[in-house]
Amino acid sequence: MCGIVGYIGPRPTTDVLIQGLRKLEYRGYDSAGISVFADRKIQTIKSKGRLADLEKKIKSGIWQQGNIGIGHTRWATHGEPNDVNAHPHGTSKLMLVHNGIIENYLSLKEKLQKKGYSFDSETDTEVMAKLIDFYYLGDPLEAIYDAISKVRGSYALGIMFADYPDRLYAVRKDSPLIVGLSDDENFIASDIPAILEYTKRYYLLDTNEVAVVKKDGVTVYSPDRTVIQKNELIANWDTEAAEKGGYDHFMIKEIHEQPKALSDTIMPRISSGIPVFENVSDDDLKSVKRLWIVGCGTAYHAGLMGKYAIEKLAKIPVICDIASEYRYRSPLFADGDMVITITQSGETADSLAAQRLSKENGVRTMAVSNVLGSSIPREADDVIYTWAGPEIAVASTKAYSVQLSVMYMLAIKLALLNQQIDMETAKALTSELTKVDDIVKIVLKMDRHIKETAEKYKDCEDLFFIGRGVDYALAQEGSLKLKEISYIHSEAYAAGELKHGTISLITEGVPVIALATDPKLFEKTGSNIKEVKARGAKVICLHTEDFEEAHKISDDEFVIPKMNPLFTPLPGVCVLQLFAYYMACARGCDVDKPRNLAKSVTVE
Ligand code: F6R
Repeated sequence: MCGIVGYIGPRPTTDVLIQGLRKLEYRGYDSAGISVFADRKIQTIKSKGRLADLEKKIKSGIWQQGNIGIGHTRWATHGEPNDVNAHPHGTSKLMLVHNGIIENYLSLKEKLQKKGYSFDSETDTEVMAKLIDFYYLGDPLEAIYDAISKVRGSYALGIMFADYPDRLYAVRKDSPLIVGLSDDENFIASDIPAILEYTKRYYLLDTNEVAVVKKDGVTVYSPDRTVIQKNELIANWDTEAAEKGGYDHFMIKEIHEQPKALSDTIMPRISSGIPVFENVSDDDLKSVKRLWIVGCGTAYHAGLMGKYAIEKLAKIPVICDIASEYRYRSPLFADGDMVITITQSGETADSLAAQRLSKENGVRTMAVSNVLGSSIPREADDVIYTWAGPEIAVASTKAYSVQLSVMYMLAIKLALLNQQIDMETAKALTSELTKVDDIVKIVLKMDRHIKETAEKYKDCEDLFFIGRGVDYALAQEGSLKLKEISYIHSEAYAAGELKHGTISLITEGVPVIALATDPKLFEKTGSNIKEVKARGAKVICLHTEDFEEAHKISDDEFVIPKMNPLFTPLPGVCVLQLFAYYMACARGCDVDKPRNLAKSVTVE
């Protein structure tokens, strides 16, 4: 959701900025721009469209590399994607790039207009730039502090001042920003992949800390304007992790990384045959009487699966909610509640707000996140990190799988602590979970069959998913994956709900993916398959080896190895991810950068 970079150092600045933006393009890709110091002034170039369009524009004119600069790749919030609305924005005194939303920008704009400022773009960012300009009397720090004290909303800002060609300024609130550290060069970036090629050392900026980034050092000021010492962190991702590594798209690479992501997330947490969570005390878990799980999109779907697993094994009631809904209703908390926020990025605005609401109500919070030190885990009481490595493709795949694995481990742990299962059962379940990466490897080998099946159905306009129990939760994720990257209209229904309305949508030739991985529910889902077939649907059935009848009643099949039905969504989702991927490829869609979307949704 908008990516920002900044660089100061001896390298060709434009190249470093473009390279950084390339790594951040997953955060937004409707326009891009950079500003650099050259010929003793700030020069800016921007372009609607992909980063490649900006590069073309740079190459087609006279452009100097510069030795300090900022860059931006945009996901439009205020104003359509065009050259004027693209960042950087500014005045003769300063230029800035912004990720976030300035909520009170209209009233600030009016005030600035009364002071004589005029505006070229429709963006909230231009208001922020002109507000800083208004307060600027020669001291950038003062101007930044004064301006941020007047704005409501979220921001990560990279700023250059014309009077100070030897430094960049950076500040953030509720949008991510890191400062990359090296010996004779320094960086700012929305995310680690943008700096990985040059350094693994970085600072995380906290709310309203201002970093002054020079070539030979970085000074960080606290919100009360005193110099502070920051903890230097080291990124544990390598450069390869943020590259496509020979695959056509990040999405397919990340689908194939799932066995490793699962074993990296599960194995270090198994001790004496059962799950153990570092820094989460058994006493705290024992005191949980009811759980809330919140998240957005795919992370919410992982929560739905968590509800099944935790209620089934631990017999603890779970309320699963979409973060953007939860935060605006009045959740009725009670003693013994705990709220788990699931989030790959750790920065999703609605999930962060949901967690803050829980905290304000005195409820214990736990974050399940894939990004070390991101806002949501930093603010949570307890954290369980997933170790999937960087997820670059906009469509989440490996992050979902590892989130499920954490839900399963948590369910086993809570069940044991709650004395709902004995040690032997806990060990047996854990042992099965530790082998799931091997089953996932087997399923990933079905790649070719799934591709061929997808090609058969690629021209459909609508596609429905049906399932019961865990398969219903899985159906929702399968449907989201398909629609977000292939643009095929798709819905997921509880198989038993069909006859209460939905079945009227089934017409001749409409594909229905029936998920039937739970032997206890084969018969029931089997009946629903027959119902849709009788109305002309083409049924693709995803089932385990022991559902023999599936062969007779479906048109196509995806057969996965038999295992504990609670865990089948793990291999099951790999099939659905591959299906969505190959459908999107067959339709010529830009898989890693789906229309209108961006990763890490840091605005409401
Ligand atoms: C879908 C997808 C999104 C995210 C959602 C939450 O493929 O990626 O639905 O799951 O935006 O993001 P995080 O997990 O970063 O909070």
